[in-house]
Amino acid sequence: MIFLIGYMGSGKSTVAKQLSESIGFGYIEMDGEIEKREGRSIPQIFEEDGEKKFRQLETSLLQSLSGQIIVSTGGGVILSEENQKLLTRSTVVFLDASFETINKRLADDEDRPLWGANIEENKRRYETRLPIYKELATLVVSVDDKNPSTIADEIVSRL
Ligand code: S3P
Repeated sequence: MIFLIGYMGSGKSTVAKQLSESIGFGYIEMDGEIEKREGRSIPQIFEEDGEKKFRQLETSLLQSLSGQIIVSTGGGVILSEENQKLLTRSTVVFLDASFETINKRLADDEDRPLWGANIEENKRRYETRLPIYKELATLVVSVDDKNPSTIADEIVSRL
């Protein structure tokens, strides 16, 4: 398995698709899979059952994954120690985007319950997570100003 980790808006899903085409692995997007299993959207899960429930769903999905697949994770998958252990059994690629890039990309986003109108809070969350992404990563790829296929090529050449 190859896990793509990184903050919301760092391009994990798009790069995961590219990468799966390049190396012929399957592909899974964790948020999409959770939505499919639950029959409701991520914002709905947060609203109806709270973040704690969402994190439980995320962990049980993570536990069930195996095989030759590229996994696009949710930005918060790195938060629990249990998930960290599960991730670091495989290759972990961190898509490193600056806060400025993310802020531009998510400007009008309404699908992410943990991305709000308060820019300081968004930035604080980003800064808290940054060292965790870096620590878990087998490979760190800077993604600012690069397109998904360039990023996928770079991952293939550096793995
Ligand atoms: C989250 C990121 C989202 C999604 C949920 C929580 C987070 O995924 O899992 O809204 O805590 O960073 P993306 O990273 O794909 O936006």
